Amino acid sequence: MKAELTPPVIDHKTYLLNGKLIPWSGDVAEVRSPILPSDASKEDELRGVLLGSAPDMDEPSAIAALESAKSAYDFGRGAWPTADASVRISAMEKFIERMVPKREEVVNLLVWEICKKRTDAEKEFDRTVIYLKETVAEYKNLHREGSHITSVDGTLAQIRRGPIGVVLCLGPFNYPLNETFCVLLPALLMGNTCVFKPAKYGVLLITPLLEAFAESFPPGVVNIIFGRGRTLASPIMKTGKIDVLALIGNSKSSNALISQHPKPNRVRQVLGLEAKNPAIIFEDANIELAVKECVKGAWSFNGQRCTALKVIYVHKGIREEFLKAFAAETDKLSVGSPFENADITPLPEQGKVQYMQSYVDEAIAKGAEVVNGRGGLVQGNAFFPAILFPTSRDTAIFREEQFGPVCPVLEFEDFEEVLTDVAESNYGQQVSVFTQNAEAAGRCIDHLVNQVCRVNINASCQRGPDALPFTGRKDSAVSTLSVKAALRSFSIRTLVACTEDQKELMEDVISGGHSSFSSMNYLL
Ligand code: G3H
Repeated sequence: MKAELTPPVIDHKTYLLNGKLIPWSGDVAEVRSPILPSDASKEDELRGVLLGSAPDMDEPSAIAALESAKSAYDFGRGAWPTADASVRISAMEKFIERMVPKREEVVNLLVWEICKKRTDAEKEFDRTVIYLKETVAEYKNLHREGSHITSVDGTLAQIRRGPIGVVLCLGPFNYPLNETFCVLLPALLMGNTCVFKPAKYGVLLITPLLEAFAESFPPGVVNIIFGRGRTLASPIMKTGKIDVLALIGNSKSSNALISQHPKPNRVRQVLGLEAKNPAIIFEDANIELAVKECVKGAWSFNGQRCTALKVIYVHKGIREEFLKAFAAETDKLSVGSPFENADITPLPEQGKVQYMQSYVDEAIAKGAEVVNGRGGLVQGNAFFPAILFPTSRDTAIFREEQFGPVCPVLEFEDFEEVLTDVAESNYGQQVSVFTQNAEAAGRCIDHLVNQVCRVNINASCQRGPDALPFTGRKDSAVSTLSVKAALRSFSIRTLVACTEDQKELMEDVISGGHSSFSSMNYLL
């Protein structure tokens, strides 16, 4: 697929440090789209359209960003962590107000940089704005809950959730706006200060929002740097000055970063990691519905979602019928431009097409076939979804999270075989169960709820609605995210306590307005 439209060329040259956009004059990294230039020749076939460049910052700049966040936090005594809740809410509302007019610019870059189809890119932006607004409402609730005093066995106590400290926030390329902002902004609202580094792909789309951050939050509260994780994140962790690691990505990266912290036990981890969500299709399933949900679940955004269906188990009795229909529906997907809302679009990660091919090659060598006619067809950086059957358990595609358009299918006769795989899997995010039988559904629920964190009945896996808890077991997550849960994940309970004989003093603290923590100002 080649570019018909003219790309926006942005040579971005600033970063956000201590409340100011600082010009960067050091090394830069090229940013390319996975879409090929219209005049692409055979030699540079997979080199996408040049979109511009972003700073490729160095270790001293990373440490400067950390120091800025650290000094704004000032051991919890800084103006931001001690600010009245209404001050933090105003900053957040100002940010949302400044973010909204940037919609078109951000969405356009989202499409160019990671080839998310236009309608989904718009959804990502809008969903994020709604999430942030709901976060403010939930924060007010939390604050109201903390504005009363309880009496327990003669002890008076006021309990609130307080910030944890300095957060290092690293986002993923597949939801570079939504998944990053849904951790970064709740972390800020709770009074933490942050260093944020955008993902490897999906970098330029953050740049139209730098001013909004600078204008909305006090100096040092949020610092945004650009470059490679190894150069920037590792030295930051080694200082031991990070209190929270917020990372949406892979457990290899999070484990490596945590192990670099001199006191890993001190680091709160808020992690959304890899998954291998299975679909389990029973003999009595509504095949049409199962096919529709598997097409959506396995192939939306080319399978590049942590919640994607990444392995399918189908009962022997309906395997043939299901596979035929699944292959036929998959082959109807369109390949092409994300601007025209094609279903299958170019893959942003370098070498990803070859990586997908290697999964297919190994599975074929171990007895599988690609069951859909268009499976594995390559067009530029796009790879047409390939359905593999029968898939050996001794393959990488069975064991690993593929995060792309290849899906292994296995046949089962006894549900116990599937349960053994689920139990032995390194992942534990969600599962989709397809059956029309209440007894079978009930049995699945009871066997699976303690293996994963969401059992979807006759539906594909997904994160939303965003008010629901989103988490996982084993290598799939640490901490829970949702509008409400994110605020809890980025805070810790802290309280003021005294005996009844100190009542008068505490009354004076409160009525005199001497403390923003011990206040009874109800935020409406
Ligand atoms: O990549 C993981 C995302 O959180 C998935 O969210 O299910 O809304 O696509 P989604």
